[in-house]
Amino acid sequence: DWTMATYRDTKVAEIREQVGDKKVICGLSGGVDSSVAAILIHEAIGDQLTCVFVDHGLLRLDERAQVETMFRDHYNIPLVVVDAEERFMVGLDGVSDPEKKRKFIGGEFINVFEEEAAKIGGADFLAQGTLYPDVIESVSFTGGPSVTIKSHHNVGGLPERMNMKLVEPLRELFKDEVRDLGRELGLPDMFVGRHPFPGPGLAIRIPGEVNKERCDILRKADAIYLEEIRNAGLYDAIWQAFAVLLPVKTVGVMGDARTYDSVCGLRAVTSTDGMTADVYPFDASFLTQCATRIVNEVQGINRVVYDYTSKPPGTIEWE
Ligand code: XMP
Repeated sequence: DWTMATYRDTKVAEIREQVGDKKVICGLSGGVDSSVAAILIHEAIGDQLTCVFVDHGLLRLDERAQVETMFRDHYNIPLVVVDAEERFMVGLDGVSDPEKKRKFIGGEFINVFEEEAAKIGGADFLAQGTLYPDVIESVSFTGGPSVTIKSHHNVGGLPERMNMKLVEPLRELFKDEVRDLGRELGLPDMFVGRHPFPGPGLAIRIPGEVNKERCDILRKADAIYLEEIRNAGLYDAIWQAFAVLLPVKTVGVMGDARTYDSVCGLRAVTSTDGMTADVYPFDASFLTQCATRIVNEVQGINRVVYDYTSKPPGTIEWE
């Protein structure tokens, strides 16, 4: 793709110009955007770049291992993995307001990045995989007055005190363009096609209070749902699919015993840029199969519902 080949060359030159001989910390989320940003920046400045992957305890099942493998085995890019589950869980304790969750998580990411920067003798720049829709949606909603719908952690939520400057080489791009650029940079198709995953992770898929126990329950349900989607050959037809764990308990029956457990919501949408989205129309039998497996296999969930809301008026994530 000549467009992306040109974009690549232009950005590499711009990054070199912006960064000079200074050091850059890149926050990796494991998603396509931050990976593409990291590879592009690495191409521009080599070992002036350090990538930091924060395991905030809000990741999906096996995600950390996948990202570690990918970066260590396929790219020769130094990767620091920070085990930060405890401090994120402590900070989220008692927080149920969606914007407060997002602000805390965004701020704590910066704290971790600054600590890691200090360890390598300081860094002048923080790199992120911010895309054009992230910029727009954090500022205003399609043309209306300036109303913040959500503070995307990689745009808003950056504390004023942060003393690193931002490097955001994907700020003009939409998701499909980032995927093209990823292919241009040699990222494997399987990785380029990954569904988006938000920086605040499972915290915004657990309305109400977040804790490790609830994250563990959600991780299991989410993994089953995605396994079913992959097995049915539907993964690539869907923009994003995930489970949410609701702060509501309902009554059920297992064998001859009464249960009183949480409700799990399933979401799947099609979209081209995340700014609008349509509900993915699964067959009823597919959803029944997912519900049966989740209730049978995940302790703590006894009821599964499917989210039929388009965006707008819904958003893709529940918070
Ligand atoms: P919403 O929920 O606003 O999501 O319809 C649109 C797209 O953005 C993703 N998303 C985020 N990505 N940091 C991110 O990197 C965030 O804070 C964030 N919040 C939402 C969401 O998963 C969807 O793809």
